[in-house]
Amino acid sequence: MNDEPLPLEPAPILPTEPKESIEVIDTTKRERQPDVLVSVQGLDMVFDSKQVLFDVGFEVNRGEIFGFIGPNGAGKTTTIRILSTLLIPTRGDLWLDGVHVIEQPEIIRRRIGYMPDYVGVYPGLTVREYLEFFAGAYRLRGKQRDALLSDVIELTDLGKLVETEVQVLSKGMRQRLCLAQTLIHDPDLLILDEPASGLDPRARIEFRALLKELRRMGKTILLSSHILTELSPICDSVGIIEQGRLIRYGEVADILSQLRGDRVWYEVTLVTAQEGILSHLRSHPAIDEVKLDDSVLRFSYGGAEEDLHTVFAILAREKVSFTSVRREEGDLESIFMSLTQGEVS
Ligand SMILES: Nc1ncnc2c1ncn2[C@@H]1O[C@H](COP(=O)(O)OP(=O)(O)OP(=O)(O)O)[C@@H](O)[C@H]1O
Ligand SMILES: [Mg+2]
Repeated sequence: MNDEPLPLEPAPILPTEPKESIEVIDTTKRERQPDVLVSVQGLDMVFDSKQVLFDVGFEVNRGEIFGFIGPNGAGKTTTIRILSTLLIPTRGDLWLDGVHVIEQPEIIRRRIGYMPDYVGVYPGLTVREYLEFFAGAYRLRGKQRDALLSDVIELTDLGKLVETEVQVLSKGMRQRLCLAQTLIHDPDLLILDEPASGLDPRARIEFRALLKELRRMGKTILLSSHILTELSPICDSVGIIEQGRLIRYGEVADILSQLRGDRVWYEVTLVTAQEGILSHLRSHPAIDEVKLDDSVLRFSYGGAEEDLHTVFAILAREKVSFTSVRREEGDLESIFMSLTQGEVS
């Protein structure tokens, strides 16, 4: 018998790499893209088995004003609350300057200023005390605190009201106070949920001017509204959300021309109604429809703006005098309304 121990089987050489290489993604960090501050990808949100967001994704560039537009119940506040670290989505990823919003909310909270759609103020405090309270919450102290407070008070034009109790402020001034509060820790990104709702026309215009000033100072702003034409004059890009889905997204000029289509309506007020002009205008290759209502002539034009004079050449040739010409901007809102139907079912 051979008592010699059996030679040990050489240990199998374990493959150092799995056969199929698996890409390991670190979701907490992301390569910083120089122009992009906010990146939202594939957001789904389900509340009690009801899905209210479907694969929502967009990017906000550094230093721009991004408008998030949609009707009641579309999912604006839900998306905004997720981005502000107040809700965790059912699925999806969000980054602020390469930092993952869900994984590192405490870093995100220092870098954003969030103004909710309904802002209550603590009564019994003056404007100054109110802002000092929030400065304290961000652990701002001493000279740094005083400098930030006075900058914010000056910017929001609250100087004359610092000793006024917050509960007696008008809606417009209260809105400014809330904006001041979101600015107190000098955040990179402002997230404002319907900041202009309830403001009168003058306060809206002043509020818009303030947002433009903040953009000039280098802030990035994401704000929401129901009304496209309210945001389009100040936004660089917009996302239109309807029933939890982002149905349009891009630069404002591109979105507006997509919504308008190729045709723009013009309204010309004639000195006297002249039926005969209709057939002449209809023969113009870029004119689609022509209507005459009393002395108001309306036509839809699909040509280049530079060639618009060819239409007015017809009016001149037919000796039709007019007192005003207006490009119909209001139509945009109705196209937008037909695009967005209403609440999530
Ligand atoms: N906590 C919640 N639990 C259950 N459903 C919710 C919750 N929050 C929001 N929803 C639902 O999610 C949908 C989107 O609501 P959201 O508030 O995001 O819309 P919105 O676009 O901000 O609307 P509005 O213009 O009215 O502010 C709605 O159907 C709403 O009822
Ligand atoms: Mg809302």
